[in-house]
Amino acid sequence: MAELISLKILPDKSELFLKKFENGIGKISSKSLVNHINLYKNLLEEANNLAKECNEYVGRWLSSQPMEESPKNELAFSGVGQWYSLYGRIKSHELYFSSLNKNGSCEGKIKDLLESNFKSIENFKLDLKLKALHTSGWVWTVLDHSTGELFNIPSNREDAFPFAGMNALIALDLAEHAYEPDFNQDKEGYIEEFLNALDWQEIEKNLPLM
Ligand SMILES: [Fe+2]
Repeated sequence: MAELISLKILPDKSELFLKKFENGIGKISSKSLVNHINLYKNLLEEANNLAKECNEYVGRWLSSQPMEESPKNELAFSGVGQWYSLYGRIKSHELYFSSLNKNGSCEGKIKDLLESNFKSIENFKLDLKLKALHTSGWVWTVLDHSTGELFNIPSNREDAFPFAGMNALIALDLAEHAYEPDFNQDKEGYIEEFLNALDWQEIEKNLPLM
């Protein structure tokens, strides 16, 4: 019988983030972070419901003899595509929440990488900030592990993660829901607060073994 790998039921990491953000992160208030985590939970719920629906339907279709072509099959497989789009948004939010914590200075391997690619940490932050100011979706800092090159990649799409052959190290959410509650229209203030609150120890854990 033909088989298709089932869509995963994704784990909910919101408790971890809620605990971390009890007192907010600098000027990013705990109230807006809690609301943001609830949006993440909604995405998870949507993805997990869709996974159950698609797994059930595709499983039934594959075990039917003979397998019939029908418009419903198209529908089920477009659900599979939609699930991966949600997965991208969920992973980006997890990266965003995990990279915030005001936790120490930038040192070691991550510092060396940033300096060899951008000459200084300040230049890296400026590059990320300029791109973020003109973006309405996300900016990801990604590492091409075959060359050691780092890029800050802007996208107006919400679901473009991940990139072929690259590891995302940092994700900056630029949707209005991320900054308007605390910063109103001051997007630059929000970006600066984010850059000041980066948890470098946590970000270093996203480096692949090189
Ligand atoms: Fe968001």
